[in-house]
Amino acid sequence: MDLVAFREHLYRFILCLTSATSNIVIYPSNHPFIKSGIRETYTELTEILEGRKEIKFVLLRNLLVSCGVPLKFKGPSWRAFLDMLIKKKIDQIIFYAGLPFNQLEQFMIDFASDRKDTLYSTALIKFSNTDLEDEGKKEEFSDYGKSNDYFDSVLDLGMLEPNRMVKDLYQKIMVDGTFQAAVISEIVTVFLEQIQTGGSSLTMLASLKSVDEYTFTHAVNVGILTMSLAESLGFSDSHLKDIGTAALLHDVGKIQIPEEILQKKGALDSGERGIMERHSINGARQLMKIKGLPRLALIVALEHHLKYDGGGYPHVKEKWQTNIVSQIVSIADVFDALRTKRPYREAMPPDDVERILRLGSGVSFNPFLLEHFVNSTSKCTTTS
Ligand SMILES: [Fe+2]
Ligand SMILES: [Fe+2]
Repeated sequence: MDLVAFREHLYRFILCLTSATSNIVIYPSNHPFIKSGIRETYTELTEILEGRKEIKFVLLRNLLVSCGVPLKFKGPSWRAFLDMLIKKKIDQIIFYAGLPFNQLEQFMIDFASDRKDTLYSTALIKFSNTDLEDEGKKEEFSDYGKSNDYFDSVLDLGMLEPNRMVKDLYQKIMVDGTFQAAVISEIVTVFLEQIQTGGSSLTMLASLKSVDEYTFTHAVNVGILTMSLAESLGFSDSHLKDIGTAALLHDVGKIQIPEEILQKKGALDSGERGIMERHSINGARQLMKIKGLPRLALIVALEHHLKYDGGGYPHVKEKWQTNIVSQIVSIADVFDALRTKRPYREAMPPDDVERILRLGSGVSFNPFLLEHFVNSTSKCTTTS
């Protein structure tokens, strides 16, 4: 496994572990979220352990060290993971290859428990609360050196690029029919924190680095723009997380569209347009099968190309009431598409983007939402 893949699995392992342990605390013991969260954690741990004898995490003062280097990580799950280790007075955990699911499951249930006397090492999960201030015991950590100065490199897990995470989410949903709730929850929580601490949605937008990444970079940007507008309209935090989840997943059905249609330089013929337009129904249909996903996600996947005047696609019955979040996503969707360079045209300057959006007021877009959106993004910038 290369370093990039290793970082990603480590990152997701910590996300899944913290998310699953909080589910264990929140939900009754037979709730399906608990089993699925532990299963996600087990999958990531199995990937990390492939080709290794063990993976060791050592809490050395405020540093979490693994594979001989301190890990750097941003985001709420990281803080939660460190807090749990400190609360449980755990300085070291080793997971060994061949760990069966039920041993990890029991460990996680004990780890989540408030009682401090419930943790026991097993043959394939060992942990300790070694007192690192004790000089003699410090020698046990000789492979990590005696002080933080020892480390000349840091494995920066950072906040992995959201578009890479979204790409993985889309593929897992549409190809495997699985969903990593912990990953999407982390993305929307980080975005929400940035928005609520005064971050401008425009400065948070990701730039397109390669054309074949468009769908995922676009999904991230639509997520940021939608959450930002919804936040300014006064939606509560719990609604904002569902809204962010729905916006990030709005184009999940595009995974099934052939690249030659997505990247086509000229106009689509009617057959190609039909395939393109099916992404909203296909996405909604797949999201419908996934347990634990807010219902809003499949509504937005279905409705985000419906127009304010009843046009657009898919064809819906008369007097269909489009969800307000789908209406916001449809504005963010067009805004991000216009400001980005596409195979068939250049990126549009901000004034042109605004002019085209305004032309759609009352036809494609809800006039109130559009006005609010344009006012909050009037200083828009273009990406290449
Ligand atoms: Fe779409
Ligand atoms: Fe879109």
